[in-house]
Amino acid sequence: MNIAIIGAGNVGRALAASFARAGHSVTITSRDPEHAGTVASETRTRVATSNAEAAAAAEVVVLAIPAGSLEAVAAEIRDAARGKIVVDPTNRMAFGPTGPTIDSGESNAERLAALLPDSHVVKAFNTLFASHQADPIADGVQLDGFVAADDATAKATVLELVRSVGLNPVDVGSLARAQQLEQLAFLNIALNVVGNGSWNSGWKLVAAPSLAAAV
Ligand SMILES: NC(=O)c1ccc[n+]([C@@H]2O[C@H](COP(=O)([O-])OP(=O)(O)OC[C@H]3O[C@@H](n4cnc5c(N)ncnc54)[C@H](OP(=O)(O)O)[C@@H]3O)[C@@H](O)[C@H]2O)c1
Repeated sequence: MNIAIIGAGNVGRALAASFARAGHSVTITSRDPEHAGTVASETRTRVATSNAEAAAAAEVVVLAIPAGSLEAVAAEIRDAARGKIVVDPTNRMAFGPTGPTIDSGESNAERLAALLPDSHVVKAFNTLFASHQADPIADGVQLDGFVAADDATAKATVLELVRSVGLNPVDVGSLARAQQLEQLAFLNIALNVVGNGSWNSGWKLVAAPSLAAAV
């Protein structure tokens, strides 16, 4: 698969390494081309000079950026990502006096879909810490890669992408399920913050029902 990763931080680096290892062709960008270039050479991927250029050349665009940057990046790539799959791995939360908190409103992915009405937005990878995006095994167990999307073809493509990097792909339904996926990620993060955890925990749904069987 020809994949553009926008964002060269923890997630961009981890997914670039995993996608490249799985044999995908990867281009990475960030607002700092020098930083993106360093990550590209470390992960044996390529660097593009702009987010729109990276998106234009890709079949799948992954937004490995803070949720607060989604609106700006969506505006930059709207034309280039028309008709394409846009993967949203983002989470959001605030840190208040009582610890980490998350609002229960619309998910980042649903907001992104409203910003990119001509693209196929897919929620994936957000429930995995970057360490497990790079290495999908925790305590000897293959972790799950949950995928939510409205477009069946886009979802099937991303389920295959998830499988290709060594995760167990789990179809959780429509893009509305992204609300629960963002809450799952939040719970794992909050447990590690409050419990001073090792950030090695990950999600595995045992005997998951197959949605494909229900269709
Ligand atoms: N870290 C994790 O374990 C983890 C796991 C699952 C999901 N997530 C989610 O994944 C997203 C990224 O997390 P992260 O840990 O990778 O964050 P990070 O380390 O802060 O990296 C974010 C990257 O986004 C880039 N960026 C920001 N605005 C941009 C723009 N307008 N155009 C291009 N690049 C832009 C930044 O690069 P420049 O500043 O150079 O532009 C930076 O490289 C977040 O939404 C987070 O909630 C994180």
